[in-house]
Amino acid sequence: MNDRFLRACRREPVDRTPVWFMRQAGRYMAEYRALRAKHTLLDLCHTPELSLQVTMQPVNALPVDAAILFADILLPLEPMGASFEFAAGEGPVIHEPIRSRAQIDALRVCDPHEGLGYVLESLKLIRRELNGRVPLIGFAGAPFTLASYLVEGGKSAHFVKTKTLMYREPEAWHALMEKLSTVVAKYLVAQVAAGAQAVQLFDSWVGALSPQDYVTYVQPHVARILAEVTTCGVPVIHFGTGTATLLEHQRDAGGTVIGVDWRTPLAPAWDRLGNGVAVQGNLDPVLLLGPRDVMLRQATDILTSVKGREGHIFNLGHGILPETPVDNVRALADLVHSLTERA
Ligand code: CP3
Repeated sequence: MNDRFLRACRREPVDRTPVWFMRQAGRYMAEYRALRAKHTLLDLCHTPELSLQVTMQPVNALPVDAAILFADILLPLEPMGASFEFAAGEGPVIHEPIRSRAQIDALRVCDPHEGLGYVLESLKLIRRELNGRVPLIGFAGAPFTLASYLVEGGKSAHFVKTKTLMYREPEAWHALMEKLSTVVAKYLVAQVAAGAQAVQLFDSWVGALSPQDYVTYVQPHVARILAEVTTCGVPVIHFGTGTATLLEHQRDAGGTVIGVDWRTPLAPAWDRLGNGVAVQGNLDPVLLLGPRDVMLRQATDILTSVKGREGHIFNLGHGILPETPVDNVRALADLVHSLTERA
């Protein structure tokens, strides 16, 4: 059994540095595109047999040291009462964006076993299929990132509506964050019970906030989620992008592993975080488009910079892009393993 990912999360010695990739299942793989031609993204997520197939695609094709559940961070919004779709070329579209206190009060704090039972079913199937080959990672979106989709109605550049709600109606904001946090905490705990051996909290867009606003409007909610999930006894990866000025606050909110993006050099980030946490990251996903020697050189630099410290999980600073050649992903994973083989 390959447990180097779980060992690195716990900062134990490993035979080689573990590697997996955010969005390792997706459009850059021909196998994924073939299945996607026959099913919508939501169908892939809603059907445990299909979620299993997609989850296994990168595990079968690449030397990755972990599997990540195929699902999406937005799935809990549906049973909360906020319907959405993935529109071609546009990304997610929330049908009725949340802008008022009344809409926030109407959101349901759903039980994951009811509204998200299909995800839990997928985890059980995947765990059985993996049969110990590599550990299985579950995940959820963090409340700020989920709120940004709910309030903006989709993707956003400046998060104007989200932050306006936060500044103008702090009580409504905290009520929204509390509902999202309750759902996310229960969902992650249920994922662990269903077979997830680690979980990642994706706070992808939290870097839009100043440190002061992070501490005031977000950190208490994230801290509560992470405290609840940490009692399950599995490693928890706390990830965000654009977080150069937030890292210490994120660490204080919790997590076994802190995910860092490429804008922040990994070794000094780890010095700031201290030895109490493992780190995950942090190659720029654009480097995987080539040239390959530039990608490999920058990956080597990251590995050299943290050499000799236990607790590094190699990953990108954000998800794999759809244009990425699969051969580059394989070459990168092979490089990580060969450069870090311990005596
Ligand atoms: O990492 C994995 O392989 C697991 C699967 C996974 C998906 N989404 C599948 C997906 C994971 C971990 C996510 C997380 C997710 N979803 C995040 C957080 C991570 C991040 O990238 O910041 C966010 C913000 C979302 C919301 C989301 N889902 C957006 C904005 C989009 C559209 C953007 C795009 O790339 O088209 C999605 C769609 C989505 N989720 C795809 C996949 C594979 C695109 C594929 C498709 O249309 O078939």
